[in-house]
Amino acid sequence: MLKLRSIRIVSIGLCCLALLMGVTPIFGSVKAEDNLAPTENAVNTTTDSVVQATNSEPAANATMGCSYRTHVQNVGWQSFVSNGVISGTEGLGLRLEGIEVKLENVTGDVGVEYTTHVENIGWQNYVNNGAISGTSGQSLRLEAIKIRLTGIAAENYDLYYQVHAQNFGWLDWAKNGASAGTEGFGFRLEGIKIMVVPKSDPAPGPTNRPFVTTNIQMTYQTHIQNIGWEGWKQNGELSGTTAQNLRLEAIEIKNNNPESNVGIKYQTHVQNLGWQGFKQDGQMSGTSNQSLRLEGIQIQLTGANAELFEVYYAAYVEGFGWMPWVMNGESAGTEGLGLRLEGVRILVQLKGSGGPKNLENALGSMTQLVNKNHSIPRDYVPADLVWVSLPSTRDTQLRAEAAQQLIKLFDGASAQGLTLYCSSGYRSYATQAAIYQWHVEMYGVAGAELVSARPGMSEHQLGLAMDVTSASASFDLVESFGTTAEGQFVRDHAHKYGFIVRYPQGKTHITGYAYEPWHLRYLGVPVATAIYNSGKTMEEFYGIY
Ligand code: DAL
Ligand code: ZN
Repeated sequence: MLKLRSIRIVSIGLCCLALLMGVTPIFGSVKAEDNLAPTENAVNTTTDSVVQATNSEPAANATMGCSYRTHVQNVGWQSFVSNGVISGTEGLGLRLEGIEVKLENVTGDVGVEYTTHVENIGWQNYVNNGAISGTSGQSLRLEAIKIRLTGIAAENYDLYYQVHAQNFGWLDWAKNGASAGTEGFGFRLEGIKIMVVPKSDPAPGPTNRPFVTTNIQMTYQTHIQNIGWEGWKQNGELSGTTAQNLRLEAIEIKNNNPESNVGIKYQTHVQNLGWQGFKQDGQMSGTSNQSLRLEGIQIQLTGANAELFEVYYAAYVEGFGWMPWVMNGESAGTEGLGLRLEGVRILVQLKGSGGPKNLENALGSMTQLVNKNHSIPRDYVPADLVWVSLPSTRDTQLRAEAAQQLIKLFDGASAQGLTLYCSSGYRSYATQAAIYQWHVEMYGVAGAELVSARPGMSEHQLGLAMDVTSASASFDLVESFGTTAEGQFVRDHAHKYGFIVRYPQGKTHITGYAYEPWHLRYLGVPVATAIYNSGKTMEEFYGIY
């Protein structure tokens, strides 16, 4: 009170002093106090108070601040504002195009420098101490900014800044040269607040999410049996091996762009040990020097921007080959089957990007998908066809492994007192062409399309499909086979031998074909079992249509 009472007496002189020093807020409060508390002995303290004022106000004044102005679409340069006041606009949809930032009340060796991310240009070179960053008169939006203090005295301060970005609104506070705003989205900055605070002071607000970028640099490496750590891969590249029978033993995954505010966590299912608990951001999951195979993996994104992205991953598994892509924490690989992971692919995409499409669908693989959208060459003939020695309505061939497994399937039926018959296995392109043509003549194109594949689009040309029938179905290929004991045996047990009923009832909208309870497709036991258990068609299981 002493100070304020005394100031009343010298208010005119102090006012001038205050104005000179740029401390007008003090002047306002002095007047209010003046009216409330006049005192009789004020005169006596005048000298003291002036001394106090001149000593104390410069000290407060010495707190370094910053002032800044922005060039706003349709508006031009705004006036300078200071220390946390918004420059630009909010809610008007107007882009920032340029910015100037300078320090106030500078003492010692300290300056400010800044760079902006400009539409069509990207990050510009740093400029400093009041120079323009960005553009004026070119109608180019600012998308992001980095600001930092320079000089020896910079270590005494933190420089904080926060931007209002199109579609995101106010992001959190960035500091000391970190990125604020967005990158890769084409969104404009609309407003900005900047503050300099002493190093020990807390942040002016939340700091979790100052920046959003599409530039996720997720990388991964695996430890492979006999080979060791293989080196970092990215963007869905294969890590590990395929068809070399080498187990994966460990994996590390990390995002090389921490500014994206996206992290990653993952856990693996290890031989003899089971699920291992989540590791994150480059830590090793799995084991080293224990010769234990990875069998499954789950991967999830973490961090403030995780919900903008999706992580997809696919596993190459012993006996399966490539299994379908899964995402966001789902299990890839197998559990309880004792099968090794041999390779993985990992891909992080912005939500809504559609996900990975091109699973390997190699010609000649046991799991090759053939349908109305995925054909095989006219001249493709499997190299390992054998004549099938089983009860048949005519002589027919299959690939060797499929033939062997079909014998076991027929034996399984026999054990139940059921006799299956082969009807049609491998068909050449030319044979398929003749069959399709026959159907067209009988039923027209639309009718034929429901029951017969065009040449080049039949699984029979793969040598991996067998049509089976029974005496109870009059040795015919008819829907009623599905209701016979033989048809039901096939439906319920074929997967144990590596076959699926490829065109199930009620799935015509996916497969394109009417129900064919007789058409068995060989895929190998693991894949056929997984598809059977999933209740999905092959298209749905692999996500290829
Ligand atoms: N009947 C099946 C669709 C084929 O012709 O291959
Ligand atoms: Zn068939």
